[in-house]
Amino acid sequence: MRNRNCGNPIVCRCEEVREKAIVEAIRNGAHDVDAVRRVLRAGMGLCQGKTCGPLIARLIARETGKSMPVLLPARARPPVRPVKIRVLSEK
Ligand code: FES
Repeated sequence: MRNRNCGNPIVCRCEEVREKAIVEAIRNGAHDVDAVRRVLRAGMGLCQGKTCGPLIARLIARETGKSMPVLLPARARPPVRPVKIRVLSEK
């Protein structure tokens, strides 16, 4: 069976964002990892970009000619998890 997406691999597994979408975002002006995050949600998944962040930075470097140290690190944000009201009311 032939894989239709072998030329367009997933870069962000958490948010299922593929390379071509990221390259298109970069060509449309997303020239840093945070900008790609805002446009595609790549890097906003469960791992918070630990897996895909360096890959996205590498794609940006390839497309724009920027160096990797300029592109890394992206701002890390702690994951937000729902908390039950009962937990907040307990001492
Ligand atoms: S692989 Fe992109 S956020 Fe986890």
